[in-house]
Amino acid sequence: MQATPDRYAVIGYPVKHSWSPFIHGMFAKQTNHALTYTRMEVAPADFQSEVEAFFANGGRGLNVTVPHKQAACLVSRYRTPRAEIAGAVNTIAAQADGLFGDNTDGAGLVTDLTRNLGLTLADTRILLLGAGGAARGVLGPLLGEGPAYLEIANRNAERAIELATEFRTLGEVRGCGFDAITAAGHFDLVLNATSASLQETIPPIPPGVIGATTLCYDMAYGKGDTAFTRWAKSAGAGRAETGWGMLVEQAAESFFLWRGVKPDTRPVLEAVKNQR
Ligand code: ATR
Repeated sequence: MQATPDRYAVIGYPVKHSWSPFIHGMFAKQTNHALTYTRMEVAPADFQSEVEAFFANGGRGLNVTVPHKQAACLVSRYRTPRAEIAGAVNTIAAQADGLFGDNTDGAGLVTDLTRNLGLTLADTRILLLGAGGAARGVLGPLLGEGPAYLEIANRNAERAIELATEFRTLGEVRGCGFDAITAAGHFDLVLNATSASLQETIPPIPPGVIGATTLCYDMAYGKGDTAFTRWAKSAGAGRAETGWGMLVEQAAESFFLWRGVKPDTRPVLEAVKNQR
């Protein structure tokens, strides 16, 4: 029997609405691991000192959320290749010789798409909306699945073109503005990685890119539909999903990194969906 439970937390600004304590609490119960998991609301100026203090006082691991994921790269002494490619860290683990940074966001998305939603990504055509941190974080794992073609469309076209250029060695990828989205034929998957849903708006997507077999996926999540999934349904998408599955699956990847056990995500996803 462990004397003091291992300490974990999610660090962000703001962080009070984070579901991570609920999700990791369920993982811990399910796997019979003794741990505590709290929220740390920390302003950017205090990020490094608060992270150092957390680990100096015996903390075992942190999840990192907006706006600290790039800063978390810098405080990590070692980083996994997928964190390096993403340029962002969402999971920090304490190791004997320093902090270890990983990024489980892309793997979480791919697991949700393939295992929970039953999509095969190999040889598909993917449209990724947005070219900010959220888009960058998932590009490597998405291209790793071997899609036939991935198009990045962004309000600021230059940003999309630059991002595509950066990832071109990993697959067939092109960047453009919303007005230059390839209109010939439907995409198999349209992913919203913009922050537009948070403002209750949707990017200007030509409806022709969506068909009855298209899966539209918003990496954002909220109560019920987002502005994007509402739009997708009205535009005739076969399916429209919000990012709850990605949230739970990235958490499971973090839990595995910290505890060496992969929890069963299905009951947790059910619970989150029922409580949200
Ligand atoms: P994040 O880490 O969430 O990706 P970010 O790096 O600030 O945050 O990127 C936000 C993304 O959402 C960008 O792709 C942004 O487009 P621009 O690069 O053109 O700014 C996109 N975005 C934000 N609000 C949007 C809106 N109302 N319509 C379309 N795209 C929007």
